[in-house]
Amino acid sequence: MDKMWAGRFQKALDKEADDFNSSIHFDCRMYKQDIIGSIVHAKMLSDKGIISSDEKEEIINGLSGILEDIENGNLSFDMNAEDIHMFVESELTKRIGDAGKKLHTARSRNDQVALDIRLYLANECEEIGKLILNLIKAIKETAEKNTDAIMPGYTHLQRAQPITFAHHILTYAFMLKRDFDRIEDAVKRMMSASPIGSCALAGTTYNTDRYFEAEHLGFSGISLNSIDGVSDRDFCVELLSAYSILMMHLSRFSEEIILWSSWEFKFCELDDSYTTGSSIMPQKKNSDMAELVRGKTGRVYGDLMALLTTLKGLPLAYNKDMQEDKEAIFDAVDTVKKCLSIFAPMISTMKTNKANMYKAAGEGFINATDLADYLVKKGMPFRTAYKHVGEIVGFCIKNGYVLENLPISEYKNFDSSFEDDLYTEISLETCVNKRISAGSTGPQSVKTQIEYFTELLNEKGIY
Ligand code: ARG
Repeated sequence: MDKMWAGRFQKALDKEADDFNSSIHFDCRMYKQDIIGSIVHAKMLSDKGIISSDEKEEIINGLSGILEDIENGNLSFDMNAEDIHMFVESELTKRIGDAGKKLHTARSRNDQVALDIRLYLANECEEIGKLILNLIKAIKETAEKNTDAIMPGYTHLQRAQPITFAHHILTYAFMLKRDFDRIEDAVKRMMSASPIGSCALAGTTYNTDRYFEAEHLGFSGISLNSIDGVSDRDFCVELLSAYSILMMHLSRFSEEIILWSSWEFKFCELDDSYTTGSSIMPQKKNSDMAELVRGKTGRVYGDLMALLTTLKGLPLAYNKDMQEDKEAIFDAVDTVKKCLSIFAPMISTMKTNKANMYKAAGEGFINATDLADYLVKKGMPFRTAYKHVGEIVGFCIKNGYVLENLPISEYKNFDSSFEDDLYTEISLETCVNKRISAGSTGPQSVKTQIEYFTELLNEKGIY
């Protein structure tokens, strides 16, 4: 295929160099955004008297035809084209002749590509937002079914204090809500500066209307500096960072699901449809989906690092290095979408084993803090109570007791203020139910958390 820029050259581009240079095999996915951007550009050119109204009509009809043909499979991308922008323009010229050659007036591929990625990502982020909300919904519904499931809460992966499974799992919903907000915020910033009309780097001598284009393409403003317009890829880095944080959350969640599904824990069981077997060990039921999500987190971090490294040290304005932005961001978008869509049904079909959680919570002196608080309520300073309970725990370990079955006579050897009521005070149910501080594992707080997400999901139209 003859290059549009071929005029200046004596020789054709070497075949291997041509392939190396070409981005159509990955930027073809932005065909729709490229065409929509071009339609708005043609309208602006005609409004400003730069092309005629007839030419505008021809261009718009031509572009709409191309879009339709791509979408219904009647036009396939020419993989010999340099990129999606060149492909659309040359296809247009093939179809409508001279008017097609006027489309590229007062723009460049540099502002065009900066526009297309933004439009593409805005769209993908909306999808990602919905997937996040769906996962939040799955978590919330799981929490609702497990408000009475008492389990050990951990610090240092050592049993620490009793909590409910609802409280534990809702933590991930809060993480995901922040991810949702972070992405929304990054999109808002990305869509506040339309780059189109920055042209190659310095703007143009034509009397264009960049505000018209920005408004018709869903931007709230334009880039006020044309060099920044074509050089900025901060929005890609911001989104990759937000995706990385999101993946880090999914990875932590995955890790817990893998642990909880193990024979050692048996707190939950993933549905058969989201687990795999082993080719050699007949007893195995593996949490492959969760493991893959955990694994793919590294891949998204890699995308972030790749782009940061690509951009580091780039002089202004456009450099071809920047073509590398797309594979990184596309890979991250695809990965995040796949992980989120597999995660939601994996969670909603997951069964919890409340009896095993309860049993684990009953072992390991998880109510020691509550025993200390019991003494504090009788008037002892906390630090003194803490010391007493430490000694009692030591005694129990040595003599084969747990706090629940250590006889009152033994308790009284440590402090005379111990009474029979201590046993109800340190029961797992009391430990959980008496947690009344805002945000705690207590039932009122968990109810508030669930209501918060019910409201959020209603507000966002997720039912
Ligand atoms: N395919 C290019 C990219 O993705 C489009 C911009 C090309 N601009 C240029 N001056 N060669 O970055």
